[in-house]
Amino acid sequence: MQLSAKASVLRSLFAAKGAFVSGNQLGRELGISRVSVWNHLDALKEEGFRFEAIRNRGYRIVEEPLAFHPDGFAARLALQPCPFFKSYLYLPETGSTNDVAANEFASGREAPFFVISDNQRSGRGRRGRAWYSPPARNLYLSIGLRPELPPTRLQSITLWLGLQISQKLRQVTGLPVMVKWPNDLYLHGRKLAGILTEARVDSEQTRELVVGIGLNINTQAAEFPPELAASATSLAIASGRSWPVVHIAAELLQALATAIEAFLENHYAERLLLDWPEHDYLRDRTIQHEQAEGRVIGIHPNGSLRIQRPDGSVAVVHSGEVGLA
Ligand code: BTN
Repeated sequence: MQLSAKASVLRSLFAAKGAFVSGNQLGRELGISRVSVWNHLDALKEEGFRFEAIRNRGYRIVEEPLAFHPDGFAARLALQPCPFFKSYLYLPETGSTNDVAANEFASGREAPFFVISDNQRSGRGRRGRAWYSPPARNLYLSIGLRPELPPTRLQSITLWLGLQISQKLRQVTGLPVMVKWPNDLYLHGRKLAGILTEARVDSEQTRELVVGIGLNINTQAAEFPPELAASATSLAIASGRSWPVVHIAAELLQALATAIEAFLENHYAERLLLDWPEHDYLRDRTIQHEQAEGRVIGIHPNGSLRIQRPDGSVAVVHSGEVGLA
């Protein structure tokens, strides 16, 4: 993907990992004058970046905007290439990225691709619920795939991707993120993220699959609407600091690309069962599900939840809502 001049400047500065890069070097790398470099840095300052400039040494980044920055994102992706995705679409504002992804399939966009937005007017959650999607705070991401798999294999993809997101977020933030079967990520007992997987299936094949991920990154506690105030959290609330959305997004996309490849090649079941217990929010808890009540004793490789009833019998449930008893 072709980088803009501002994205190229950012890529060189990110690549230096906090060290100074001279104006001459930036100009040489981009084939532009030092004055043009300076103009691009000036424009980036207007957009929320802060640079330290030292005579004879050059520039370095000291602060990044928290909200999604398209050039910052392109620069990070250029440094962590994700060849798995053929393309992506960034929309500063949209209705729902899952709906945009479905429309992109209809207009023939080649999969795998992803859609990312900084503001959803009508973000959707599971079971017809709304997904709280304020501007300039969080990640709203939908991945479009044509997996050519029987629908039975898709049961576990949400679980597998949830586990990978949990692992990556733990690695990047150091926070004890957990996965709550089947679609949620939890942190300190509150919901941090949700996954909405939607498929178009015909004649026993999955034609189009959209995996939508909503992750609360920088929403502050006082900003959540009253109905979420007691149950939702964000990385910022849990860590006491803010996180540039593009940093988290680029890290997650790389992890997701690797995870989806492993899934499509069917190299994931062993890892899923091995890593699940450490991330399982429901492990050993007594829960209520429409089909069974009892203690959670883990998952089945196909992604179903295993519940041990008080009489010792084991129920295997494939979908639905789980409540803590
Ligand atoms: C849930 O927990 O109910 C699932 C929430 C999924 C939200 C994401 S945000 C990006 C994508 N676009 C949507 O409209 N929904 C998903």
